[in-house]
Amino acid sequence: MDNTNTAKYGVVGNPISHSKSPSIHQTFALQTKQDISYKPFLVAVGDFEQAVTDFIASGVSGVNVTVPFKEDAWNLATKLSTRALLAGAVNTLSFKDGEIFGDNTDGIGLVRDLKNNHGFDFAGKKVLLLGAGGAVRGVLGPIIQENPASLTIANRTLSKAEQLKQIFVSDFAISSCKYCDLDSSYDLIINGTSASLNNELPPIPEVVVGSSTVLYDMMYSQQTTTFNHWGQNLNAGSTIDGLGMLVEQAAEAFYIWRGVRPVTDDVFTKLRNH
Ligand code: ATR
Repeated sequence: MDNTNTAKYGVVGNPISHSKSPSIHQTFALQTKQDISYKPFLVAVGDFEQAVTDFIASGVSGVNVTVPFKEDAWNLATKLSTRALLAGAVNTLSFKDGEIFGDNTDGIGLVRDLKNNHGFDFAGKKVLLLGAGGAVRGVLGPIIQENPASLTIANRTLSKAEQLKQIFVSDFAISSCKYCDLDSSYDLIINGTSASLNNELPPIPEVVVGSSTVLYDMMYSQQTTTFNHWGQNLNAGSTIDGLGMLVEQAAEAFYIWRGVRPVTDDVFTKLRNH
């Protein structure tokens, strides 16, 4: 139960009723014995700034931000972490000392899921990213930090992949191409297109998938995603969906707010079995 010492957090989005974040953070809080509340906040498009003003006035300590407000949060933040600056989007806001701190935990969530939960070591690996929208931009920085052998961004609209490449040009030599230009296999293929939302598949040549290729769909669902189904039919090494990324990005946000890192396995298993 909330009392005056209970620190208030939440998740802001539209829609928001489907969000698993309240359940994840409440489980983290119980596990780490942190006295917090965490609620879903439905905000009308166009009202994000006012909503944040109201959160601060009512003593909310921080919020996660989801679709469609991640860029609004980036614009509103008075301070940004380096990874949020590069991501061009914010999924975690902290309100403290009159500042609005913006961070982005999506990329580190993906990297931790692959490394810690699936034993994937990026060093020396050929990595292919599908898509060049906000989802891919959000994860590029933390992937570059892992020092893969190469990083290729393939997108339907080549100019968008090239623009993205320019943002990270000083950090890493990224290649960009169209799907039809792909002509060899990769160690890791990450699907960051929104095609999955419509159960569609980008037009990827089958040659990109080898017998040890790991396929990672940033989307998750109870059934195997269209992208992962495609990979399984091609006998890919393994297929992973984005549920682990969801849990890991939440754990990093919890750590930013509370200074305590929750254990994620139990939460993941609970969500997977629901
Ligand atoms: P998000 O913020 O979720 O990344 P976005 O910025 O609209 O959303 O980007 C969507 C990405 O999915 C883009 O890379 C888009 O390709 P284009 O840049 O060519 O539009 C990609 N995408 C969406 N539907 C697709 C489809 N059916 N096939 C291939 N790529 C698709």
